[in-house]
Amino acid sequence: MCKILNLGLLAVLTAVAFPAVADARDAEDAIEYRQSVYKAIKWHMDPMAAMVKGDIEYDAISLTRHAQNVHALSGMLLEGFVPGSDMGAHAGTTGARSEIWERWGEFEEKMSTLNEQSQALVIASTSGDLRGNIRPAFAELGQACKSCHDEFRERR
Ligand code: HEC
Repeated sequence: MCKILNLGLLAVLTAVAFPAVADARDAEDAIEYRQSVYKAIKWHMDPMAAMVKGDIEYDAISLTRHAQNVHALSGMLLEGFVPGSDMGAHAGTTGARSEIWERWGEFEEKMSTLNEQSQALVIASTSGDLRGNIRPAFAELGQACKSCHDEFRERR
């Protein structure tokens, strides 16, 4: 009886203690991971912005490739937001507000919007119509970035 109780207690303690230890290590890796993905997204956003603005020459193939890469990368972000990796516990290294985990459903939805809008840009890009299709789709995508940053990101 006593032995069974002890085993039960051990299981509870292990379940409680282990994730705490794992999170402490994972949080730093997760912050680096997601910031790297955002940097890669920016790498692909910048030339598209320049084409849309007319600062550099429009190149249909390269724009589609950048849009595809943003779309692929956008699907990699969410897993980088592990619990306990907010700016409260990791001040100075991350701009992720704790509201992300308090309003996870809303955050997840904004990620889905990013995913959809980047997909929409891929489709628009195949039209080759910079003014009529690509520019508005790019603006919508930019809006998806901004709407999440306004709510959930603090500038470091
Ligand atoms: C669902 C929310 C959300 C969406 C959508 C989103 N971001 Fe962010 N972004 C964040 C958060 C939160 C951070 C802070 C991450 C951190 O510091 O840990 C961030 C950080 C960044 C960074 C800074 C990375 C670094 O160097 O530390 C860049 C650049 C960035 N985002 C670009 C974008 C672009 C471009 C888009 C749209 C294509 C976008 N983001 C869409 C939430 C979002």
